[in-house]
Amino acid sequence: MTRSVASAIREALLECDPRAKAMMTRKVARDWRLGRLSFVFDVAMPTVPGRPEAPELLPPSRMPKRGKGGSERGRIALWHALAHIEFVAIDLALDMAGRFGGEMDERFVGDFLSVAADEAMHYALIDRHLRGLGSHYGALPAHDGLWEAAGKTSHDVAARLAVVPMVLEARGLDVTPATLDRVKANGDERGARILQRILDDEIRHVRFGAIHFAEVAERLNESRNDLWKTLVSRHFGGAVKPPFNDSARLAAGLPRDLYASLA
Ligand SMILES: [Fe+2]
Ligand SMILES: [Fe+2]
Repeated sequence: MTRSVASAIREALLECDPRAKAMMTRKVARDWRLGRLSFVFDVAMPTVPGRPEAPELLPPSRMPKRGKGGSERGRIALWHALAHIEFVAIDLALDMAGRFGGEMDERFVGDFLSVAADEAMHYALIDRHLRGLGSHYGALPAHDGLWEAAGKTSHDVAARLAVVPMVLEARGLDVTPATLDRVKANGDERGARILQRILDDEIRHVRFGAIHFAEVAERLNESRNDLWKTLVSRHFGGAVKPPFNDSARLAAGLPRDLYASLA
């Protein structure tokens, strides 16, 4: 008898050690692809996933200000913040597949497990880069805003898709090009390559969100744009802020008429 995909996902979510979680996540995605896990949802996902003892998690308002990234300290702060985003992104993608997979379908599970595997790779690349700068993930505090967004949408797959890939990950498409330019300007070629790869992958992540959201909207017989706007207003406090990376958003399946009216 093959193991249930839900129990494999749950185990990866509960893992506290970041490197172990990244490896376990890639294995879950691989096992799913190879047909070693069954489409069975017999265990619940944890409310809070496993976290390492460090970094200390602070509310966003208590995070120390980080400069523009020119100094050594500023560069470390930037890569540490990125490592944290990717670490939480692993859990967000795992939770998407494990919490909502049963009410969706196999394709949904496969799509978000492939996202989880990408996030695990992003995390590993950034952690290695951070170590090259003489630091490591956990050396600085981080904030827990990303996981909070997940907690507010645990009850509803449409709300989760609307907020996590279609607002938060789409925001990554908007801000990454400027970070990339800054990293290049500092002469950090390897860092620039990592960010370019992440940007390319994130377009795919947002697209998966947009595709599955459109399918849910159709099933509910609702207009995709209206449903998205309602759910974002209800479950995502902050406004959807310009500047927008319109071309990357369009490539990801988010046309301007969708988000411009919420800006
Ligand atoms: Fe990522
Ligand atoms: Fe992502």
